[in-house]
Amino acid sequence: MYLRKAESRRTVGAPAKLNLYLEVLGRRDDGYHELETLMVPLQLCDSLSMAPVLPSESGRLGPVHVNVRGAFPLAARDKQELPPAGEENLIVRALELLRRHSGCQLGAEVDLVKRIPLAAGLGGGSSDAAAALSLANRVWGIGWGRERLAALAAEVGSDVPFFFAGGPAICRGRGERVERLPRLRPLHVVIVKPRWGLSTSDVYQALDYQALDRQAPAQCGGSERLAGLLQAMRRGAWSELGRWMGNRLQAAAAALLPWVEQAQAAFAQLDFVGHQLAGSGTAYFGVCRQAQHARRLATILRTRQLGLVTVTRSC
Ligand code: C5P
Repeated sequence: MYLRKAESRRTVGAPAKLNLYLEVLGRRDDGYHELETLMVPLQLCDSLSMAPVLPSESGRLGPVHVNVRGAFPLAARDKQELPPAGEENLIVRALELLRRHSGCQLGAEVDLVKRIPLAAGLGGGSSDAAAALSLANRVWGIGWGRERLAALAAEVGSDVPFFFAGGPAICRGRGERVERLPRLRPLHVVIVKPRWGLSTSDVYQALDYQALDRQAPAQCGGSERLAGLLQAMRRGAWSELGRWMGNRLQAAAAALLPWVEQAQAAFAQLDFVGHQLAGSGTAYFGVCRQAQHARRLATILRTRQLGLVTVTRSC
């Protein structure tokens, strides 16, 4: 998150993320799944700005308002692709939670410019929530440290704490245990997002549990893959990434949405370094050798009419 101060209103970028590797290690009693995943933040980002609103004189909490506007690459799509502005918006939930835990009574006027597609597996809603916590921490003068905010963020959603890492990280548990990694050379990617979205919960439900129960993590190559990926990343050996990337949720998403296999087939015909589903979908992405390679493959993919094609890079 990058902070810019303008009087009492502040603005941040809320980056999208990609899971270069995602393994499901098992089911948990609380309904979640135990994960091991390596995530990188992207330059593709939403923008959030926030101004504090005073509580009313009758002692009621200040109101929280979120105004949402779509921008490129979302701008070409219809309004239904924007998140709700009310209670179900993760930003509102995050701010309510922060108020409850900090005792703050201020409200907030939030402007959200949405560029990250919804229900894409790119973490847009989670990143917006993380950015909102970070902004409110400042404009409300709460002054919590990053660790404390990240711990609260886990109550908003499993992916939200990752966005406090400020760079690539391995996430474990249900996603909320974050191990920060050293910064990377930029990774150039092409992302395609179809019109359809998938619910994260539906994708986890569609996992083949029998296969999952048969696979101890060591047997399905989990730790070996992650180690390989980390080594290739440390050396900046992007051409090797495809050997180690993987997303256990891809088959489950493909069982719900045939488009996933169409995307996989289209990417497989091109010389991507590696390609797979983004998180729980529905976006699909490919890693490229450099920016020019990404632009070239994006031009070809646009002719396949699979969905909205975006070129971006890790940051
Ligand atoms: O934590 P979050 O609200 O983002 O999760 C959305 C849904 O995704 C959960 O309700 C759960 O069904 C599923 N999920 C899971 N295991 C995880 C993370 C999410 O089963 N580690």
